[in-house]
Amino acid sequence: MATNELFIHERHKYPYPSLSLSLSLSLSLSLSLSLSLSFFSFLFFFVSVLNSPTSPLSFTMSAFKDKEDPRLHGIKTKIRVVPNFPKSGIMFQDITTLLLDPKAFKDTIDLFVERYKGKNISVVAGIEARGFIFGPPIALAIGAKFVPLRKPKKLPGKVISQEYILEYGRDCLEMHVGAVEPGERALVVDDLIATGGTLCAAMDLLERVGAEVVECACVIELPELKGRERLNGKPLYVLVEYFEI
Ligand SMILES: *[C@@H]1O[C@H](CO)[C@@H](O)[C@H](O)[C@H]1NC(C)=O
Repeated sequence: MATNELFIHERHKYPYPSLSLSLSLSLSLSLSLSLSLSFFSFLFFFVSVLNSPTSPLSFTMSAFKDKEDPRLHGIKTKIRVVPNFPKSGIMFQDITTLLLDPKAFKDTIDLFVERYKGKNISVVAGIEARGFIFGPPIALAIGAKFVPLRKPKKLPGKVISQEYILEYGRDCLEMHVGAVEPGERALVVDDLIATGGTLCAAMDLLERVGAEVVECACVIELPELKGRERLNGKPLYVLVEYFEI
């Protein structure tokens, strides 16, 4: 109604019909434009709320793809990248510098704990060696047991072994028989995912004894090596992405 009144009022002001017509057209056009704009901004707001880390419906699998958690920047800056270690061409991701900073180390653990507490996870399986640094504090905080997945001939009891292919040659992970019961819900933890071979072997070990792998959690992902695609659709959660170039 108000627009009609406005239109009549405008017609008095402008005696030329074409001018008033174009004015009313542009008026209604801008009105509908602003209406649709506000609709889309509402939609956008709704989607962001749905996608927030606290929402039960979390579509993203990386902390940095949710509305960036302010703790992630501190974590990123504490990881030291060492070129050509242990051999030429490799950009080594050194997490020992992260461990030197109690706040960044705690933030790293907290981010994982916030994601996994209350998820009925009874096993945290850590991959030798750096999965032994991040796995146990997560396990303690969510009330799960910690199970080390070790290199061959390190575990004294009866073991189950899983071989996997490396870039050059093979490697193997072992787990104590009886450490994990059939039906238990497990989380696999390592510091980094490169080609994904080690994580695959870890999941195979757990699934062979009847456990359900809920997710793999790593601090760092090297997306260019496409390890995520090798996990047979198993979800992977990472805090930091590192691109070589
Ligand atoms: C939690 O997981 C166990 C298996 O470890 C299962 O038996 C139990 O039903 C689960 N509880 C809930 C509430 O989902």
